[in-house]
Amino acid sequence: MRRIVLYFLSLVLGFTLFYVEVAIEFATGLHEPQAEAARRRRRRPRTRKLKIINEKKLYERIGSAKGVSDIVDEWMRLNLADARIAPFFGATVAKPERLAKLRRGLGEQICEISDGPCQYRGTNMRRAHEKMNITDEQFIFFSDNLFKSMQKLSVPEREKNELLGRIGTLRDDIVHGEEESEE
Ligand code: HEM
Repeated sequence: MRRIVLYFLSLVLGFTLFYVEVAIEFATGLHEPQAEAARRRRRRPRTRKLKIINEKKLYERIGSAKGVSDIVDEWMRLNLADARIAPFFGATVAKPERLAKLRRGLGEQICEISDGPCQYRGTNMRRAHEKMNITDEQFIFFSDNLFKSMQKLSVPEREKNELLGRIGTLRDDIVHGEEESEE
């Protein structure tokens, strides 16, 4: 009889312990699925946020849509007032729709080249410039005006150089003047 009572008591004790354990897990919110999710969160690398900050696009760093628009306005103004290259734009200035197309094209170029959310939709750069005999020097004047426009708008040094470097990649499509064809 004592044996049966002891057996019964140990059975009751076992069940009690089991339910107490389950109750504690639920009370602390650490029952299995949540506990696993919490463990996964803890394992995630902590550098992710820092990486996203470093990966800001050039487009955002130069002020996004407003920044690009202000740069292009000033760039156009400087180019048209620059006696060294202004004669190229005589026919353009005479027709508002041509001027607007050029302004739009320059904006799309800057936006696209700085990894912004735009795509250049104008005439292919090579086709648009190949019959103009633009020289390296004139290309530099044009690019230098871009630099000056950024300077006026207080674009930081690093971003000025980065954008200028990217614009420089268009050089081969634009320069077809004497200096190059002499070789
Ligand atoms: C980074 C350099 C340059 C860029 C990004 C650029 C961009 C453009 C774009 C987007 C257009 C409009 C194309 C279209 O019809 O859809 C254009 C046209 C033109 N570009 Fe350039 N260009 C550059 C350099 C130059 C230079 C150095 C000159 C002359 C000195 C020049 C003279 C012209 C002229 C005269 C037109 C024709 C405008 C018109 O249709 O009336 N470009 N350029």
